[in-house]
Amino acid sequence: MAIEQTLSIIKPDAVAKNLIGEIYSRFEKNQLHIIATKMLRLTREQAEEFYAVHAGRSFYSKLTNFMSSGPIIVQVLEGEDAISRHRAIMGATCPKDAAPGTIRRDLAFDPSNPECHDNAVHGSDSTENAQKEIDFFFRPDEIFPRTG
Ligand code: CMP
Repeated sequence: MAIEQTLSIIKPDAVAKNLIGEIYSRFEKNQLHIIATKMLRLTREQAEEFYAVHAGRSFYSKLTNFMSSGPIIVQVLEGEDAISRHRAIMGATCPKDAAPGTIRRDLAFDPSNPECHDNAVHGSDSTENAQKEIDFFFRPDEIFPRTG
């Protein structure tokens, strides 16, 4: 197994619901070390740039509007197979499809909400995207590796 770094976002819905500590606890209990962190609010333009790969998708406008609607917490997580293990802890993209025990099911599922964009968290999906997404939010001197 390889030590990896991945980019994680606690989205505006989860910040507004006071779930920062609960989500950090799940990372730390799963040996995902928080090696960089900050709170910020994206502009609409920054949200569009971050999610540019989804430009043209039906949910792009709602997603970028939502992601710029309030403060977020961004962090770099480090650990063995951090990218895939982080995604497993988050669960399926849409909270209604996520398995019980995952962050998105436990903390973002609302039976009256059919939407998928307000799903509490984001995580990089590949080593290439993890590096791009980490670089989007952090300078090298803001990251403090602790493993390996
Ligand atoms: P995220 O992991 O941040 O990556 C892309 C985001 O688009 C996703 O989480 C959701 O917030 C949002 N999204 C909204 N609808 C969909 C959908 N049908 N499929 C995938 N992503 C969606």
